Amino acid sequence: MILPVFAFGQPVLKKIASDINSDYDGLKLLIDNMWETMYAAHGVGIAAPQVGASIRLFIIDTIQIMEEEKIDEGIKKVFINAKIIEETGEMWVYEEGCLSIPNIRGDVERQQKVRIQYLDENFEKHDEIYEGINARVIQHEYDHIEGILFVEKLKPLKKKLIQRKLNDIKAGKATADYKIKFVRV
Ligand code: NI
Repeated sequence: MILPVFAFGQPVLKKIASDINSDYDGLKLLIDNMWETMYAAHGVGIAAPQVGASIRLFIIDTIQIMEEEKIDEGIKKVFINAKIIEETGEMWVYEEGCLSIPNIRGDVERQQKVRIQYLDENFEKHDEIYEGINARVIQHEYDHIEGILFVEKLKPLKKKLIQRKLNDIKAGKATADYKIKFVRV
């Protein structure tokens, strides 16, 4: 089932999400619905708070955006109770967007590599290192479970430039080609 994506301004997006246990009610269905919602909105990742659940869960599929010769480097994974252990490497700029913040994109600087510990959908432990695009999407989704949005990481001038658009989204005056749940409608 496609779920509505919670839009900028929704308090759940600013909460630090909680860890879950394997007996979390409806987890498998939630994950299935998140995949469906993400693909319907043409996203490469989505975090549980974006569908209104303040839990430490996000999913990523970067295979879709890898260049053909690098397709094996893409990942399709579920991250539960993730913890970033360290970020290393050079800072690099990449233009990010977010399903919760329609029609806004902006350059965000992040480190190149990330080491992350997490559980997969079978609650098996992993400790892995990712870099490049994979790291970038992980860092963006990880921020969601920490209550951080990419627009908070933009340069001051860019922040000013998008302020009106952000206010419009908060006021429910934006459109998206997928189901979205504004604070006020
Ligand atoms: Ni996002």
